[in-house]
Amino acid sequence: MRKFLIAGNWKMNLNRAESVDLATRIVAKMPAPGAVEVGVIPTLLHLEAVRQVIRGHSLQLGAQNVYFEKKGAFTGEVSPAMLKDMGVQYVLAGHSERRHILGESDELVGKKAHAVVAEGLGLILCVGETLDQRKKSETMEIVGRQIETGLAQVDAAAAQAGHLVIAYEPVWAIGTGLTATAAQAQEAHAFIRTKLTEKYGRDTAESIRIQYGGSAKKANAAELLAQKDIDGLLIGGASLMADEFIGIVLAAVAAQSGHGNVA
Ligand code: 13P
Repeated sequence: MRKFLIAGNWKMNLNRAESVDLATRIVAKMPAPGAVEVGVIPTLLHLEAVRQVIRGHSLQLGAQNVYFEKKGAFTGEVSPAMLKDMGVQYVLAGHSERRHILGESDELVGKKAHAVVAEGLGLILCVGETLDQRKKSETMEIVGRQIETGLAQVDAAAAQAGHLVIAYEPVWAIGTGLTATAAQAQEAHAFIRTKLTEKYGRDTAESIRIQYGGSAKKANAAELLAQKDIDGLLIGGASLMADEFIGIVLAAVAAQSGHGNVA
């Protein structure tokens, strides 16, 4: 059974007090632990502050970025071990904003992905096509390449250990209010699962969670989560509002028992 993973990517938002406040309000309204997994992904700078708030609760802690080297003269970067030491459970790699605004290549994303799982941390590998690429019918080619290169050094053991999550985030749907239709998302997710099956075999591929991201919100969560291969949501804007985020979590709890892929 694939347990939904609902994660809030706070991106470069919120000061320290606001981060603590949002985490406090989420913790206060979280449903009983168990049905779904829920995490928050604050800026690296506020990981410690948020960690203090969620300590002892079921809310998980993620990081938005990492560097692939273990240590050394890499000014401004943080290593996987530093994140682990900070209580981080999983790390994003390949987010479209890092690919398209910060210029990260597929190869760099692959190095980061390897470094994350080598440290025993969870990896959320983000993939997705631009609007231009979708219009040119290049979606599967682009996503396929991002999966292949991103996971080139992520072996089956890491995937089997539950350390691997994929997030399908069509770039044109991020922060735009445009959401992929449930059918568009399911099509891409099914394709990603096929790629995972080629690489890791059917049983492992069936165990890997594939999140959808891109203007996900309370109003569309249930429909997205009803899709067979959508195993959670990676949420940007809507995760900055405690009530909205909790609304999504509750939608996931309601949808989990009926999730078509529960084996
Ligand atoms: P929005 O939910 O704001 O579209 O952002 C999605 C995203 O990029 C999550 O990583």
